[in-house]
Amino acid sequence: MARLRTAILISGRGSNMQALIEACRAPAAPAEIVMVLSNNADAGGLSYAAETGIRTAVVDHLAYPDRAAFDAELDRRLRAAGAEFVCLAGFMRLLTPAFVERWRDRMINIHPSLLPAFPGLDTHARALAAGVRFHGCTVHFVRFETDSGPIIIQAAVPVQAADTADSLAARVLAQEHRIYPQALAWIAEGRVRLDGDRAIVAGAAVPPAPLISPTPA
Ligand code: GRF
Repeated sequence: MARLRTAILISGRGSNMQALIEACRAPAAPAEIVMVLSNNADAGGLSYAAETGIRTAVVDHLAYPDRAAFDAELDRRLRAAGAEFVCLAGFMRLLTPAFVERWRDRMINIHPSLLPAFPGLDTHARALAAGVRFHGCTVHFVRFETDSGPIIIQAAVPVQAADTADSLAARVLAQEHRIYPQALAWIAEGRVRLDGDRAIVAGAAVPPAPLISPTPA
């Protein structure tokens, strides 16, 4: 079966990008990473991608007069690489409605919260300040409104009494690295379909038991 030709957009560290690349290296992986593109030439993830032999590109947003021009160049690069699908992985630019529409249902994002709670930045500190007992991460299809769109998979992480934003972020990030490759694989296998605002995953099980936090020690 042809593998889903996937591009990853990053702006920084690229640990989710790395998780996606590693998962796609498996011989039976249903997706392949054909390009990593960054708006930031200093993004740490670029060197890892290049070392693995994946085509990389930098499109510096500062070199374009407006978002529309920048997004048009992104689109051009993605098409030139033959990308069929896009994963946003810490890509820190707002995308125009035209670009989001162009890649509708063919672009997903990972966000470090249990959406729709805590869209935007500083999610871990905000979760601690709100006193929630579970935090986590979400992979979702991209719609125009920031951090919105049909949810494919989430991982819930219990908040510990002693957590700092950093300790919580580290535990959430470990789960991001599990669920992002899983979501991409399901899509590449054709197991995800959209029903209005909901994404339905064929052949996926849900945990049978509720989780309660805190629990008596
Ligand atoms: C991750 O927490 C991701 O959920 C968010 O930005 C961060 C990117 O980290 N969108 P990395 O570049 O993948 O390490």
